[in-house]
Amino acid sequence: MRICIGFLLIIQFFVRSESISRGDFPDGFIFGTASSAYQFEGAVNEGNRGVSIWDTFTRLPGRILDFSNADMAVDQYHRFKNDIELMKDMGMDFYRFSISWSRIFPNGTGEPSAEGINYYNSLIDALLEKGIQPFVTLYHWDLPQMLEDQYEGWLSTQVIKDFEHYAYLCFKSFGDRVKYWVTFNEPHNFALHGYDLGIQAPGRCSILAYRTYQQHFKERQGGQIGMALDAIWYEPITDLDEDKDAAGRAMDFSVGWFLDPIFFGKYPLSMEQLVAERLPEITDATSKMLVGSLDFVGINHYTSLYTRNDRTRIRKLVLQDASSDAAVITTPYRKGAVIGERAASRWLHIVPWGIRKMVNYVKNKYGNPPMIITENGMDDSNGPFITLEKTLQDDKRIRFHRDYLSNLSAAIREDNCDVRGYFVWSLLDNWEWNMGYTVRFGLYYVDFNNNLTRIPKASAQWFKNMLRLKRDMS
Ligand code: NOJ
Repeated sequence: MRICIGFLLIIQFFVRSESISRGDFPDGFIFGTASSAYQFEGAVNEGNRGVSIWDTFTRLPGRILDFSNADMAVDQYHRFKNDIELMKDMGMDFYRFSISWSRIFPNGTGEPSAEGINYYNSLIDALLEKGIQPFVTLYHWDLPQMLEDQYEGWLSTQVIKDFEHYAYLCFKSFGDRVKYWVTFNEPHNFALHGYDLGIQAPGRCSILAYRTYQQHFKERQGGQIGMALDAIWYEPITDLDEDKDAAGRAMDFSVGWFLDPIFFGKYPLSMEQLVAERLPEITDATSKMLVGSLDFVGINHYTSLYTRNDRTRIRKLVLQDASSDAAVITTPYRKGAVIGERAASRWLHIVPWGIRKMVNYVKNKYGNPPMIITENGMDDSNGPFITLEKTLQDDKRIRFHRDYLSNLSAAIREDNCDVRGYFVWSLLDNWEWNMGYTVRFGLYYVDFNNNLTRIPKASAQWFKNMLRLKRDMS
């Protein structure tokens, strides 16, 4: 009998150390799944929606790997009630989605569309009815085409007024029920990849949205505003000072580009030294407006890279960061060993310890502001030889979330990082920008050949169990 109990305890020890549950996070910590309008909604010609820059871009030859577009996507426009049931079933607290600017203002500005507003009202009400809170992104890359045609979108300061106007209307129409707002999703990403101009400052527009909210709605509605930054963790490849400095510069050119102005009223020193000619001037008045224009830091974190000093500072085309500007070389390899197993996307190496370093970095540099992991997840391939059975049994994804969440929990409990929530990218397989439908990020499988049927993967069941478990039960 004694041996039996001992054996059980050993098993329990391994099960416990292998597992993570809601109980490993502070009370009030929120869990959700994340999405965006263009990748999910479909129905691009319905509900009086105007054309967005992604509708146009996907029509250009050779831009999307499988020549697809998101005209249909996963048709959430029509199926949101069903999708909310899926979130509910997993026990999610929040749903992060974005509003399509072109549904609210088909021409980008002018008169708002009642149909567009009604659609988001129905979505928000349906979520609340099921006890799920909305977490809303105002801009997830789908600028109304008209604004691009009129004045080249984000390259013109005119967009500031139009964005403010759009944000104002969203706060006014939905703010009675929406208490969390993200102004921009990954501004570093869309500025760099969308416009390829390097240093512009779309982040400056969001202060206006923040101040608009503060001035007109905050007291009445009591919500919070943040920005969701694409935050790769840059790990120095050696202990040499020059590589540590290089990793610091890589962080400056991604996260610091946006957070330094908001916390310190100026751009990071390394940016001032390396790209001064392209940095917009921050006047005293702007600096005053900027500082404190954020209630939480949204962090889209997926992966980490080793970083070394680029002594030659050769300008290179590195896909996912401003490494040529920052004079750094980034790589997933060190002494022939890879930093972490790869997911389907070339850029996505699985590095669970990176999330802990990332939130510690924000804590230490910016005084431990409230943080929310606004995206975290991994993709599988959607190749012709991959069976449904294999895709549904997504053990790799389960390990991914378990290990990232364990590190996050340690960052909160052991390092006192003020992290308040975690969103999985994504609820469903969906349309992944340039990769089209060739990769799958969902907890739910979507059958693109058969009426977009949603089927739970093993990871959906895993989240369901994990969210049910409190500390005392785990
Ligand atoms: C970041 C983006 O916000 C989202 O749109 C994208 O699908 C995921 N990362 C995965 O690449």
